[in-house]
Amino acid sequence: MYTYKEPLKPLKIGEMTAEKPIIQGGMGVGVSRSSLAGAVAAEGGIGIISTAQIGYDEEGFERDQAGCNRIAIRKHIRRAKEIAGGKGLVGVNIMVALKHYKEHVQEAVSAGADVIISGAGLPMDLPKLVGESRTKIAPIVSSRRAAQLILKMWAHRYDRTADFIVIEGPKAGGHLGFSREQLKNIETLDYDKEIKEIISCKALYEEKFGIKIPVIVAGGIFDRTDIDHMMALGADGVQIASRFVATKECDAADAYKQAYIQAEPKDIQIIQSPVGMPGRALRNEFIRGLETVRKPIKKCYNCLEKCDPRSVPYCITKALIDAVRGDVRNGLVFCGANVDRIHEMTTVHDLMQELCY
Ligand SMILES: Cc1cc2nc3c(=O)[nH]c(=O)nc-3n(C[C@H](O)[C@H](O)[C@H](O)COP(=O)(O)O)c2cc1C
Repeated sequence: MYTYKEPLKPLKIGEMTAEKPIIQGGMGVGVSRSSLAGAVAAEGGIGIISTAQIGYDEEGFERDQAGCNRIAIRKHIRRAKEIAGGKGLVGVNIMVALKHYKEHVQEAVSAGADVIISGAGLPMDLPKLVGESRTKIAPIVSSRRAAQLILKMWAHRYDRTADFIVIEGPKAGGHLGFSREQLKNIETLDYDKEIKEIISCKALYEEKFGIKIPVIVAGGIFDRTDIDHMMALGADGVQIASRFVATKECDAADAYKQAYIQAEPKDIQIIQSPVGMPGRALRNEFIRGLETVRKPIKKCYNCLEKCDPRSVPYCITKALIDAVRGDVRNGLVFCGANVDRIHEMTTVHDLMQELCY
């Protein structure tokens, strides 16, 4: 039962507007593609497609990952826009750590992505790569230091600033911009303070460039109370990922969604990723197995700029593709810290209604 709340305000990013200030976070590999992102946009939100190995089910992927990923980026942006029917916004999440980062940005821009959100590294060259296009850009930051560094560098090198900023906190799913030490005690981090500090450092650039830079907060946001809390801290919107997995429209296999629904607190674990960052995932047979043996890599999928297949404990592309296809015992299932609170399947429409009202 929901009590009536004031409707959330639309999110304005430059000349673009999303009726609902909710971004569905990009989820790779293949968890957020056109079906999920299109449905979120159709509800007036911002649907984000992850470009990480997005073409994993395209014909010829085993031979040519880069080519298939480019084809799939274009195909899924177009398809998501068709599903959205002119409502909301459709964008992509492109990880800086990807080997073909530049190509993914260029393909997304030429396919008409409304926004590009970029993290897992510092997206220093993103302004140059999008050039004068209409695509809006946002870095993902987890600290004031990272926010300051990026905004300062973009202003200095490219005489421009971010169109919006995504702050990703320690409760997020996937790769995390925190040390394992910090992640051991997330309740003691006082992350609300960090959020306020990150928000305060944008003022200088808003004034310098005469624009408003909306701030979006992500990580463990579960319901309207959490959204209201972030808005009270000064956020203009939120990015939510895990909750969108247990929806009919999510692009992952049904077994993946069921793994979320059945997850308990004891099943959530911080792991080390070949990306070089910690990540949060479901503790399954795959994760338990890694405690004793390394999984030798039979084939390299050329996904990461910095990955040595001879020394990493497992191939992240293979582990994520196995999971999204439904092998949730032997694959890597990323999840946010509040995954244990998800108990049932829903639809994007119902979830957006629940979050907004
Ligand atoms: C399954 C899964 C995959 C993710 N993949 C990516 C990714 O490819 N790139 C990225 O920047 N963030 C990724 N994230 C992070 C989300 O975009 C989002 O910011 C975060 O999970 C928000 O926290 P929440 O899941 O608690 O809502 C992923 C998260 C999940 C749960």
